[in-house]
Amino acid sequence: MRTPERTFPADFTFGVATSAYQVEGGIENDWAEWERAGRLKEPHARCGRAVDHWNRYEEDYRLATAVGATAFRISLEWARIEPERGRFDEAALEGYRERLLKMKAHGLTPVVTLHHFTHPTWFHRETPWHQPESVEVFRRYSRRCAALLEGLDARVITFNEPMVLLLGGYLQGAIPPGIADGALTMKALENLVRAHVVARREVGERLGRVETGISQNMLAFAPDRWWNPLDRALVRLGGQAYNHAFHEALSTGKLRVNMPGVATTRVDIPEARDSAEFVGVNYYSRAHLRFVPRPPFIEFKYRDTQGRGLTDIGWEDWPEGFLQTLRDVKRYGKPVWITENGIDDRSGTRRPQYLHTHLGQVLAARAEGVDVQGYLYWSLLDNFEWLEGWGPRFGLYHVDFDTLERRPTPACDYFRRVATGRKLVAPL
Ligand code: FCB
Repeated sequence: MRTPERTFPADFTFGVATSAYQVEGGIENDWAEWERAGRLKEPHARCGRAVDHWNRYEEDYRLATAVGATAFRISLEWARIEPERGRFDEAALEGYRERLLKMKAHGLTPVVTLHHFTHPTWFHRETPWHQPESVEVFRRYSRRCAALLEGLDARVITFNEPMVLLLGGYLQGAIPPGIADGALTMKALENLVRAHVVARREVGERLGRVETGISQNMLAFAPDRWWNPLDRALVRLGGQAYNHAFHEALSTGKLRVNMPGVATTRVDIPEARDSAEFVGVNYYSRAHLRFVPRPPFIEFKYRDTQGRGLTDIGWEDWPEGFLQTLRDVKRYGKPVWITENGIDDRSGTRRPQYLHTHLGQVLAARAEGVDVQGYLYWSLLDNFEWLEGWGPRFGLYHVDFDTLERRPTPACDYFRRVATGRKLVAPL
């Protein structure tokens, strides 16, 4: 048997990932409205100043380089850049430009997400994703973003986890804009694919050849009852819809979702064919699916099948699914970037082991010929975790949410050893 590769090549990128709303602070957008409406699990939690990354960015770039990172993923906050429809805030654009230049000066290559879940408050009222005008509105915004990336050699992610946005925001109504309608979800999906295409075009026109793609949340799925044909059908259809429909549309130009009784679509979008330079994978866990005989027909659960203990947010620790996921995206024939992977570990003691097992799967995938080129850990810092608020801690650095002081967790040292030594050593 071949011994799996234990080293990362010199051109493999290690980096960290963040998103604007979760770290910057001082942002007024659809999420801030959602919080005030008491829609989070903890109805009084507010993102507010977040972890003040907007002001502490230089310190945070230093923290990133201290763990051996050479890439830093941020997102641009649309609500800062276009606070009113059609009015662009030059100071905000300048502010981002300044931060990106500093990032470069620290030896960090920017990975820039144009859209990471949040919207300006006017967006859902005026041009929500299920309306065709949303595409043009996003094109205009992307044009401004492209201009501020000039000369930076950034990698661009148009959308973070579009299926999570759709599932949460349009199908379950659990996140903004709080719609629960299968047909509108499919309309919105189609427009998100089109919006990716026009944004990528804007970026390309302005900057020449730029690597542009999306980040997709990809779960490993398993039937809750292995012997049950309905559970198994859910795994097949749900896995296809959730993990692959979007990637596939950007590869083939054919958008296909087939979830009978929930949402279905079949549209050809020829301009979406071959419209991504890389496949972005956010991998965290595995979910078990069970058929229930009433809408929405699916029950979704995380199970601790191996006795490893669920992570603190309640997700299964399932590194095996990472390899499977990476094998599954080989079909797109593009380089693969891990744009997020991480663990909510509130004590900070499990993270080195999580990194070890998950990076091991990345090496195993590479040994099988999957062209994984980079790994961005979610996240550099503890931050505001959407519906869960301030409970979870995904950070390599622990943040005291009162004083905002950043303190290394044991994973910092481990990450640095692997990122700089290029060897998958065992945690101490
Ligand atoms: C992903 C999101 C990211 C973060 C992690 C834990 O789904 O993209 O913003 O919340 O989960």
